[in-house]
Amino acid sequence: MTTIALPQITVPAGLRIASAVRDGLTARSKRLPSWLFYDETGSDLFDQITRLPEYYVTRTERRILDAHAAEIVAQAADPRTGSRLRIVELGAGSADKTRLLLKAAIDYQGTVVYEPIDVSPSALEAARERIEREIPNTTVCPSVYDYTQEFDLESADPGMRRMVLYIGSSIGNFEPRQAHKLLNAVRCALDPDDTILLGVDLRKDVRTLLAAYDDAAGVTARFNLNLLARLNRELDADFDLDAFGHRAVWNDLESRMEMHLESLDAQSVRLPGLKLEIAFRKGERIHTENSYKYETGQAEEMLADAGFTPESTWTDERNWCAVCLARAL
Ligand code: TRP
Repeated sequence: MTTIALPQITVPAGLRIASAVRDGLTARSKRLPSWLFYDETGSDLFDQITRLPEYYVTRTERRILDAHAAEIVAQAADPRTGSRLRIVELGAGSADKTRLLLKAAIDYQGTVVYEPIDVSPSALEAARERIEREIPNTTVCPSVYDYTQEFDLESADPGMRRMVLYIGSSIGNFEPRQAHKLLNAVRCALDPDDTILLGVDLRKDVRTLLAAYDDAAGVTARFNLNLLARLNRELDADFDLDAFGHRAVWNDLESRMEMHLESLDAQSVRLPGLKLEIAFRKGERIHTENSYKYETGQAEEMLADAGFTPESTWTDERNWCAVCLARAL
């Protein structure tokens, strides 16, 4: 089995964090970028979120992939040409659901190369270790970088088809314009006839949505607050974690769940690493995340707008999530 060293992050991580935090906290409407969630603690907490009873996304998508993995792999490999399939994954995290597709690929063609991309080196290392142990005949080639900043793939051998997995409703964390840019960048990095497998979360009753982003055990609240803990650790800030609350809000006009951190009092926070002091009014919020929920057919439209031909869509019985396979034009 081949083991490839994790490449180093190219932009000094500290600088990127510092400038993102400065921009976000000095803006009129305070915000922090969601990539800041995924340090080691945050990636662990997110893994716990995916197992919460209220968080239906992971479970629903896993059922869809479980039922259709063989069909997805065969279609992506392109039976017209008898090509071999290589699997790339954006924001792989623990790559738990991906294992279903890797196993299906091995049944289909004997071996498979898997290229996970994530901002979290710890999550990638754990995923590689587990996959190489549990799914023999898989070669894992991980890369640590932020695929929203740059996205590039070495060109594959002729006779190879790539399938880029973008599941877990991560596309929903981008505003429509950014989502379009990202899908376009994926299209540009692919060769014609490669495919993307896109997982989206569909609109549903608001109670289900609110519970999924504000669970009874408080894991999502800890995940959101870990952002401030991270600024305390890495920028020497003095956020009092008891003085901020987790808020999950449904924005119907924009069709998205929003995550905020709300200042429970008037207070001021120091970030000596940035030579900044930030004042908060009581009730003032820092916007930390969006999670868009789509209409049926909208994922296919987004893919078509970015230069793909949608070929098949699979959903669950309740029509809560959808997984679309689309081919690069
Ligand atoms: N892609 C996931 C989603 O939008 C990310 C996520 C799940 C998330 N739960 C969260 C992000 C809570 C912030 C807070 O569903």
